[in-house]
Amino acid sequence: MTQTLTIIRPDDWHLHLRDGELLAGTVPATANVFGRAIIMPNLTPPVVNLAQAQAYRQRIMAQVPAGVEFEPLMVLYLTDNMQPQEIADAAASGIVYGAKLYPAGATTNSDSGVSDPSKIFPLYEALEKHGIPLLLHGEVTDSDIDIFDREKYFIDRHLGVIREQFPALKIVFEHVTTKEGVDFVKANGRLTAATVTPQHLMLNRNDLLVGGVRPHHYCLPILKRREHQEAIQAAVLSGHTQFFLGTDSAPHARNAKEAACGCAGCYSAPAALPLYAHFFDTHGALDKLEAFASQFGPAFYGLPEHNDTVTLIKKDWQIPATQHIAGVEFTPWQGGETIRWCLAD
Ligand code: DOR
Ligand code: ZN
Repeated sequence: MTQTLTIIRPDDWHLHLRDGELLAGTVPATANVFGRAIIMPNLTPPVVNLAQAQAYRQRIMAQVPAGVEFEPLMVLYLTDNMQPQEIADAAASGIVYGAKLYPAGATTNSDSGVSDPSKIFPLYEALEKHGIPLLLHGEVTDSDIDIFDREKYFIDRHLGVIREQFPALKIVFEHVTTKEGVDFVKANGRLTAATVTPQHLMLNRNDLLVGGVRPHHYCLPILKRREHQEAIQAAVLSGHTQFFLGTDSAPHARNAKEAACGCAGCYSAPAALPLYAHFFDTHGALDKLEAFASQFGPAFYGLPEHNDTVTLIKKDWQIPATQHIAGVEFTPWQGGETIRWCLAD
């Protein structure tokens, strides 16, 4: 008999949809499965005020397929020049659910990010006061710090201080990639959480580099050594409430990834939920998928769980090797690979 798994409709707590014509492909890929998503603001130019968030939200909503209910949870992009009033306005709007800290230069479209995370304390104060979570790209950018150590340094230099100074601030350590990150989240109680991507659960840096460089596994923060992967796996498989689903799905055209200077980001949205199901099943922990995908996130953000469900089927499924959006070719993450789960409809 075919095995099926029905879970409360999940949410994606970290997603890049991009903008313009690409929304016609990226929005359905997520909205057909996930009920809500935290929408990353690293557009060019970035989403730095409420008016931009409202306009971007409308462009997203215009691409939600008919009959599908989907709520984009908008995020402001923090900058050196942002005024606390911007955060107050965003909070009052009811459409903004987070503020993203990109250290300047850390990743794709982060040039307008924060030059020094220790210089925007008035913004953290405003976020704490208005109940808006701080979402962190937790890496330092100093050129003398090794790329594999950048997350650890961010924790030591910045995260500890922010956590201590703003005890009521909700903090999400986005796409956690290290044991140090996992330990920090575990040690800091229910107002500190982490999102976990499929690639950081399923791969380590050997998968990126041994036997040839795999540009489609290149993302930031970069995949780390196996012991870090195992720490992330252990936290998630134990059903720890402070770790929940956030794909960090981040499409780049195939030719921009397969290039001499390839872009960082894995376009995981087309197969995201089956990929997570495959991971949990591989580790004999399918019973933990629902809370990770559909319950811990809403609990952290103070939102209701969805009252409908999605169903997965245990059946070999080959992830499409390619997807065209607006005439541009994308390679879905793990495209061409066969996994053991797929969506029912
Ligand atoms: O790999 C990444 N890609 N990491 C990020 O932080 C940003 C993202 C993107 O926007 O492409
Ligand atoms: Zn991201």
